Amino acid sequence: MSKLFTPLHLRGISLRNRLVVSPMCQYEAKDGFVTPYHSVHYGRFALGGFGLIMLEATAVSPEGRITHGDTGLWDDAQIEGMASIATFLKQQGATPGIQIAHAGPKACMQRPYYGDGPLTKEDQARGDLPWTVVSASALPVGDGWLVPAELDAAGIAKVRCDFAAAARRALAAGFDVLELHCAHGYLLNSFLSPLTNQRTDEYGGDRQRRMRLPLEITRELRDIWPQNKPLFVRLSAVDGSRAGVSIEDSIAFAQELAHIGVDVIDCSSGGVGRSYEHPSGYGHQVSYAEQIKQATELPTMAVGLIVDPHQAEAVVTSGQADLVAIGREALREPNFALRAEQILNAANPERPFDSWPRQFGWWLNGRERKLRQLGPWSAATAESAT
Ligand SMILES: Cc1cc2nc3c(=O)[nH]c(=O)nc-3n(C[C@H](O)[C@H](O)[C@H](O)COP(=O)(O)O)c2cc1C
Repeated sequence: MSKLFTPLHLRGISLRNRLVVSPMCQYEAKDGFVTPYHSVHYGRFALGGFGLIMLEATAVSPEGRITHGDTGLWDDAQIEGMASIATFLKQQGATPGIQIAHAGPKACMQRPYYGDGPLTKEDQARGDLPWTVVSASALPVGDGWLVPAELDAAGIAKVRCDFAAAARRALAAGFDVLELHCAHGYLLNSFLSPLTNQRTDEYGGDRQRRMRLPLEITRELRDIWPQNKPLFVRLSAVDGSRAGVSIEDSIAFAQELAHIGVDVIDCSSGGVGRSYEHPSGYGHQVSYAEQIKQATELPTMAVGLIVDPHQAEAVVTSGQADLVAIGREALREPNFALRAEQILNAANPERPFDSWPRQFGWWLNGRERKLRQLGPWSAATAESAT
């Protein structure tokens, strides 16, 4: 029996398996509102058997968007569309989660299919106009990027309020898991990293001070998010540059998160600066999930180039992490979880689609019997049948 396909209980929520769709921005929202695209996109993963589906980085304010196409939860009117997605995911047996975020210095970027940098004249001609971006310090992501304004006390107070309000809206929309985005060089990561935080007030300086804002926000979210629902935090376990956040820093951060009542540490890496100086092969971030789990005894989620069911199974059976997030492989194959279960639980060859959605699993079982009679398709067999 596959461990990946045993349920995981977190507070009052039971995930049907340990496969998670990693949060992935789609850049298809209109003024932060989800569209039918999002319902279909996330619905595919629910039908595809994933246990937890984490909706993409959803901005807590308009200026906290990475692009003009980001989803948002800064307005009560945005709850309804999100609620319809959460309801559908639950109806299919999946657990709906949502990541809330502020992009900080990496706000106001191009939509990735137009480029991977600051807005150009062409983007502006398409209607994507720039806004003022903010960060821990007035340091741009790179040459040619907008120089962010250093968040002042009023700005920090607003960001805290925005996160709290977005969490309340996520709850109203019916999500069961809330994830705070502290990774990838976005606003809260810009406070954590010594490369981007050069403040001289109580939010900058040594590690304890750099952690202050992310921890304040986490405490507020834990108060808002009900006791029976889990709170996740995604962090960049190491910065791309070895001069930045180290695994020791992240363990110290995760220990503080554990005291606050965070339930899962989602272990990613990089995003500050444009370089990545660490090994980046298959499962390259799993060791971060393992180290943080060992040091904190908190459940962790591993992510990053996990592409194969056996690879995912090994992550949980070895005890390196409790959850496995699948990103790009889920985009390529939204039925990844259904297929993984067939393989890992050695599906009955007579009825291999019994665990697929009942609307079509029984039909595929019938077709399977027929295909076995016919043998593998080839151009020659197709010709002889005509
Ligand atoms: C299209 C796309 C959008 C992404 N958006 C987000 C996001 O909204 N929040 C986040 O934390 N990570 C985001 N990521 C990173 C993924 O969640 C994941 O960590 C990364 O792709 C590595 O996992 P993979 O190798 O399985 O794809 C995104 C990745 C992709 C490919």
